[in-house]
Amino acid sequence: MIEYAWAHRLANPLAVALLEGLRHKPRAIAPKFFYDARGSALFDQICDLPEYYPTRTELGLLQRHAREMAECIGPAADVVEFGAGSQRKIRLLLQALQRPARYVPVDISTEHLREHARALQAEQPGLPVQALAADFSADIVLPPLPAEARRRVGFFPGSSIGNFTPAEALQFLRRSAAWLRGGGLLIGVDLVKDPAVLHAAYNDAAGVTAAFNKNLLLRANRELGTDFDAEAFHHHAFYDPRAQRIEMHLISARRQTVRVFGERFLFDEGESLHTENSCKYTVEGFQHLAREAGYAPQAVWCDAQRLFSVHWLAAPAD
Ligand code: AVI
Repeated sequence: MIEYAWAHRLANPLAVALLEGLRHKPRAIAPKFFYDARGSALFDQICDLPEYYPTRTELGLLQRHAREMAECIGPAADVVEFGAGSQRKIRLLLQALQRPARYVPVDISTEHLREHARALQAEQPGLPVQALAADFSADIVLPPLPAEARRRVGFFPGSSIGNFTPAEALQFLRRSAAWLRGGGLLIGVDLVKDPAVLHAAYNDAAGVTAAFNKNLLLRANRELGTDFDAEAFHHHAFYDPRAQRIEMHLISARRQTVRVFGERFLFDEGESLHTENSCKYTVEGFQHLAREAGYAPQAVWCDAQRLFSVHWLAAPAD
């Protein structure tokens, strides 16, 4: 019975990633595992924090430039949003688009996706909405283009591209250029800036980012029956200027042992589990990466303080 339960739990991608991540040193796990229902809700709270400038800055860019963005996208587009989350930004874009053919929100957080796709569908009954619960960091199969669609366009806001390493980002851009062949990608990218601004954004005074980080351990306890003591780990986020990235870690506050499927993992005091990278780019650096993936960068919008950028990248034609 117990063995069956373990086998069942081991089919969970979080179980595989956690075991692999704990067995190798330094210990690490991909940030996509933050996003269960609780993690997605905490991320929504982060987006409203005064220190977390990316969301409001990108919303400002969408408000100010939605018309120009819609012109780049063109009429009757099949719009696929990667990492759709609460689907807040897409509303601004949809208002500006000419006769969008369909909206396809893609997200790894199934319940969150379903709830927000339903709300959007209720608000816009004339727009076909087809939600896709999937991990777009791997290969995905998109639904066929509807007959009335002229082309497929990707929307990837929030600088979630920054949560990939540059090599993974290149891989995603290459794959997405194939999915969006003949169309393009509208993508939000956080910019390199004063480290103090970055530090504050990932170390908010209310402790929401710390709770988001620790939720990974609580999620493992809930889903996998592990025995992490979340109180015995500290949130640690810092900017590495050489790698141009924020790193988030969970640091063990004391020497402790954690059991995962009967396997014991010893954490020394001060030992880290690396949970996230959030890479920052210059406009030129990101355009270079996009070109390498086969896109043609055609337009970029930045705020006056150059905190954040939104790029329109034309995908290669058929
Ligand atoms: C989703 N992603 C772009 C966020 C970021 O800024 O890297 C996730 C996040 N991590 C801590 N705060 C927000």
